[in-house]
Amino acid sequence: MQTTPTIDELFDRRLVYPDFEPQERLARLVGLDQQKDRLKKVLGLLVNPGGLAEWADRHHPGAVALLDTVLRRPPLVVLAGDVGSGKTELAETIGDAVARQEKIEITLLPLSLSTRGQGRVGEMTQLISAAFDYTLQEAGKLPASNGRSRGAVILLVDEADALAQSREASQMHHEDRAGVNAFIRGVDQIANAKVPAAIIMCTNRLNSLDPAVRRRAADILEFSRPDDAQRHFVLSTRLEPLGVSPQHLKALVDATGAVDGRKHGFTFSDLTQRLIPMLVLDAYPSRPVDGARAVEIARGMKPTPPFQDVSANC
Ligand SMILES: Nc1ncnc2c1ncn2[C@@H]1O[C@H](COP(=O)(O)OP(=O)(O)O)[C@@H](O)[C@H]1O
Ligand SMILES: [Mg+2]
Repeated sequence: MQTTPTIDELFDRRLVYPDFEPQERLARLVGLDQQKDRLKKVLGLLVNPGGLAEWADRHHPGAVALLDTVLRRPPLVVLAGDVGSGKTELAETIGDAVARQEKIEITLLPLSLSTRGQGRVGEMTQLISAAFDYTLQEAGKLPASNGRSRGAVILLVDEADALAQSREASQMHHEDRAGVNAFIRGVDQIANAKVPAAIIMCTNRLNSLDPAVRRRAADILEFSRPDDAQRHFVLSTRLEPLGVSPQHLKALVDATGAVDGRKHGFTFSDLTQRLIPMLVLDAYPSRPVDGARAVEIARGMKPTPPFQDVSANC
């Protein structure tokens, strides 16, 4: 027997912006300025379509068809790319920047599919449908006045790899296909309802993104591993204050890059969640962190293997 999931079962927690914590987390993200900027604009326009009309009045009066083309895009943004590259972190914090920019309250409803919907047949489909229904209901309580909403809702569909798989892939499980259909139906429902709601989907599988999902996305933002300058930034902000020398920092940047014949370097999360804690715990409790020892530890660590983006291999 299937029952509709309750709100608490659907979403781990709801986040309300503006708030200090997400503001700080957003500021700590490195090398994502372009993604931040585009996401903020797309979300800002969903909340305040009047803003674009004002811009057009100023710069391109009479450009009604242009406005229509931009504003009628479905309210979906896809964040795609390698693991540990900041997709979830950005999705969970960008609402704060939009809330401050538009001076309104924004609620994020985070639905993670990785730990859910693997039980009974039809469970994932039901979760997705219920999440969209709930989003529609919440956003429907926020009517606009003068083309400007009083608030907005963002539905975050995280770890959506199963949904990103093309429905055309012949091996695709029937349940996954039904899930993709429910997702597409939900996006269309929200678009048609013209409520201040947006959907952010995160996936590791850009190459196998379903064409129907791809076509609906107002924007697809790609994420990748940090380059030398970005690794240098992450490492130096943490290690310079401890007295690690520029030479040792340079050696750390090299050791965490594509060396020893491998094609990939460390991910952002390899640096922040594995390497740096390891350096600290190695020194704790009796010694200070030492540059030469840090380089030795980094050389002994392996980066997370790249996500194999092959379509529907299960
Ligand atoms: N661009 C980045 N700049 C700084 N730290 C990052 C960045 N991307 C990821 N991280 C670190 O890695 C952790 C995991 O990132 P997350 O957003 O969960 O990755 P994913 O892309 O797999 O969703 C973050 O909590 C953060 O500490
Ligand atoms: Mg993630």
